[in-house]
Amino acid sequence: LPEPEVKRVGYEYLAGNLAARARDSHKGDSGRVTVIGGDYGMAGAVRLASEACLRSGAGLVTVVSRPEHQLTINSNRPELMFRGCELVDMEVYSRLGWAKVLVLGPGLGKQDWGYNLFKAVGLSDKPMVLDADALNLLSQEPRRETRWVLTPHPGEAARLLAVDVEQVEQDRFAAVRELQQRYGGVVLLKGAGTLICDGDCVYVAPVGNPGLASGGCGDVLSGIIGALIAQGLDLSRATIAAVVIHGEAADKAAEDGERGMLASDLFPWIRRLVNTV
Ligand code: APR
Ligand code: MG
Repeated sequence: LPEPEVKRVGYEYLAGNLAARARDSHKGDSGRVTVIGGDYGMAGAVRLASEACLRSGAGLVTVVSRPEHQLTINSNRPELMFRGCELVDMEVYSRLGWAKVLVLGPGLGKQDWGYNLFKAVGLSDKPMVLDADALNLLSQEPRRETRWVLTPHPGEAARLLAVDVEQVEQDRFAAVRELQQRYGGVVLLKGAGTLICDGDCVYVAPVGNPGLASGGCGDVLSGIIGALIAQGLDLSRATIAAVVIHGEAADKAAEDGERGMLASDLFPWIRRLVNTV
């Protein structure tokens, strides 16, 4: 492989990416996102991703999840729309067609329910963010697309590359490049010193802190990426800006302590950061 250019990114990356909203803008201008996932026991994952999406400025967000999860997902968050999915039917396809961007994976699971949604989303030609179990399913049916952002943690990356996690961690730089070559699109390799590869460059984002090592913080990141794509950033810019926003929000939240920090503690900071112009 030719050596790609390596660039360091941080807070300064945010300026100029998200212009202030026009005085006469309406919710349709800010983009519609459908977030898909949340099999039994994992409703919280789609709730976190979709709330992050709203707090990052998406105009309208719909969640597609198990029908039983509606109350949990809408609890204290009536702004979210909801479509219950038992079987993948026309109603589900219409929610995929409605969106500008799809976020698939938080809490999706690897059972038939999640697999059927994975197949349905795979038929769509929209830009999409694949996270968590969507990546585990992709590792079983590998393919290459330019229109997606993949957000593996080292364990998911190892499955996608069919190697062990130690190999990924030994050379994270090689791993993210290899993932991008094989799967296309934009690939983000999570962990301290997140790497983003868009095929042309590898971006190193030395942001965030170990306070992020708690359940749900990754789900928040996939929601931010979806919202930024919906607001018109290209896949690469949206991914880099989202990683910076997520990491900077974590650094603010960690002022009260890394231990005990929760994924939802990022929300008020995300809102401030997406208003950085
Ligand atoms: N320093 C900086 N950033 C960190 C650190 C650290 N020490 N530890 C974690 N992070 C960041 C990662 O870069 C990533 O953005 O926190 C986020 C963690 O994301 P995930 O590993 O996806 O964690 P989580 O949200 O709990 O995932 C939920 O989905 O991916 C599956 O197996 C995962 O079941 C779990 C679920
Ligand atoms: Mg995750």
